[in-house]
Amino acid sequence: MNKDEARAKIAELSNIIENHNYNYYILANPTISDYEFDMMLNELIALEQQFPDLILPDSPTQRVGGDITKEFQTVKHRYPMLSLSNSYSIEEVKDFINRIKKTIDDDVEFVCELKFDGISISLTYENGVFVKAVTRGDGTQGDDVTTNVKTIRTIPLRLKGDCPDFFEMRGEIIMPHSSFNTINAEREELGLQPFANPRNAAAGTIKLQDSKEVAKRKLDQYCYFMMMDDDKMIFKNHYESLMAAKQWGFNVSNYMAICNGVEDIEDFINYWDEKRNELPFDIDGIVIKVNDFKQRDILGYTAKSPRWAIAYKFKAEEAHTKLLRIDFQVGRHGTITPVANLEPIQLAGTIVKRATLHNADFIEQLDLHYDDIVSVEKGGEIIPKITSVDLNQRKENSTKVIFIDRCPECGTPLIKMEGEAAWYCPNTLGCPPQIKGRIEHFISRKAMNIESLGEGRVEVLFENGLVKDYADLYSLSYDMIFGLEKTIVVDENDDISRKVSFKEKTTNNILDAIEKSKSVPFARVLFALGIKYVGETTAKLIAKSMKSIDNIINATIEELTEIEEVGEKIAISIREFFDNEKNILIIERLKSAGLQFEQEKKIVSENHVLAGMNIVVSGVFSTMSRDEIKQIIENHGGKNVSSISSKTTFVVAGDKMGPEKRKKAESLGIEIKSEEDFLKMIKNDETPEKITSFVQGRFDF
Ligand code: IVH
Repeated sequence: MNKDEARAKIAELSNIIENHNYNYYILANPTISDYEFDMMLNELIALEQQFPDLILPDSPTQRVGGDITKEFQTVKHRYPMLSLSNSYSIEEVKDFINRIKKTIDDDVEFVCELKFDGISISLTYENGVFVKAVTRGDGTQGDDVTTNVKTIRTIPLRLKGDCPDFFEMRGEIIMPHSSFNTINAEREELGLQPFANPRNAAAGTIKLQDSKEVAKRKLDQYCYFMMMDDDKMIFKNHYESLMAAKQWGFNVSNYMAICNGVEDIEDFINYWDEKRNELPFDIDGIVIKVNDFKQRDILGYTAKSPRWAIAYKFKAEEAHTKLLRIDFQVGRHGTITPVANLEPIQLAGTIVKRATLHNADFIEQLDLHYDDIVSVEKGGEIIPKITSVDLNQRKENSTKVIFIDRCPECGTPLIKMEGEAAWYCPNTLGCPPQIKGRIEHFISRKAMNIESLGEGRVEVLFENGLVKDYADLYSLSYDMIFGLEKTIVVDENDDISRKVSFKEKTTNNILDAIEKSKSVPFARVLFALGIKYVGETTAKLIAKSMKSIDNIINATIEELTEIEEVGEKIAISIREFFDNEKNILIIERLKSAGLQFEQEKKIVSENHVLAGMNIVVSGVFSTMSRDEIKQIIENHGGKNVSSISSKTTFVVAGDKMGPEKRKKAESLGIEIKSEEDFLKMIKNDETPEKITSFVQGRFDF
């Protein structure tokens, strides 16, 4: 390559890499794999080494990370946050070891650790107290996210035992699969784009402005590196320092090993490459570190990374298979999601038949054709995704995939919202999957709790013309539904079907649950309406602030945005919902049926039996749900707390109370009450639900 060609190539690569840096760091939404990114960066590094006078001051190789998000205070790192150089093969690990052996004459011990796939964080401790958490940012300065980080339970706020006066603990904030799956299910429910993977979800969460929301998302953290001034360093080696950190209360992984040579390291890598799917969180490789601190000092650092450590990156598990068909699914809010149907293939321990294609832009970027051979990637529990197409295997005359322009279910022309990638079917009130989806949401446990009417049964009622909207549920009678039945296809590919029927007992249960739902509090009714972006918490805040449905119906966007957690996007969505005449008619019918459309006015006075008490609810209950017990506690002046401490007044225990919780309660001498005893205790208290006039006192739900 001559110099001019190199100049052009460097400019091109810099541009592409910068774009991917932006996607990764700013948007937290990478569009290529880490491996592809590193390959491009390596190509650029090699070219710049060959033509050093072509290195530009703003080359992506000249900086360690991305830009800094503005909302949080920018803080300079006391010790820069470096990254690790990557390797992709045992050969490269061997090269790393050989380089070290050239500098160090003695035996070298290594520590192998999991490479947690999350976001790195620096935690400062002064006199044993956690004072600050800063993101990596560009490596020199990052964002102060202390308030958010404090919500992570595995981060100690005060350390145990004898620790240095001042030090920084480095670690990774991760989102466990369990939290990731819950959050994505909720996002899909609300019509929001799900997170692509747990790393993006963790990155998005730690930059949220509301730490309460962060707490709900249940992040986790692992520590892997301690920093302090050299003259204060009290440990001989890394392993010792992490074991001490563990004693002080830090979360240090048990999955680490001292290795004496390449064979041990290779065993550790291979073991975790195979077993990583069994971990409850994502890892993307193994980190290999020199253990001894004196040897580390001798080896030193390059501008970007230590010479005493290297990351071995796993290849994302990938398979190649044929694209058979694309289904266009219509969600409850009308969002169209393209899903690829693939020739079944074994990948990361499961058989993959379907993969997400995100949206129309993604299909266009891939230039996808039917019968293409595609690469499918899967990591952890993430839904498999198509990453590329093998153009060499494309059949001549194959048909290009064209995104639909009409709803596959009702034929309505699709629309696109400004600034959003997704296409929507705007026929909100007439499109069958949207109607069924809304009813399914309405009856769900956290909404109206008519769960005896499961998913399949809603379909039967809909197909028989008995429910066209959720208000129709309140006109159902025994004679209308008893005896209905249908065989429902659960999975077309697997030929799995299920018979759904309305026998005597089921019919009575359904009608009972519908009747009971009439006393579901206003906040849950508001959530049940299924307004886009109005989740459970937002509905509670709106109900608390606006007090009645009529006030919400009449509220302006400005008034709505004054409510806590309601931004413009949510306010517009609420207005759109109530500006639709048909929704107003449905609400009128629900009102006539007797649903709660006003905030209960309750007094919580000192006289209530549970006033001033901190109560923990644990286990499964026979007469009501856990949420209902919690509601009763609030109604009678008590406070619900999630974990047992010396401040807990008592625990209400149902079946299957966690053994750890029971042990803790017993060790602290805290009373454990049965469901029956608890209900007896509150029986004689005044029932605040029945008080309808507002008397001065605390006014909440
Ligand atoms: S040690 C001086 N150990 O991987 C660098 N890093 O580029 C100290 N990571 O930024 C990092 N697991 O966010 C270390 N066990 C581990 C790790 C780990 C994940 C991340 C970290 C770092 C990146 C490497």
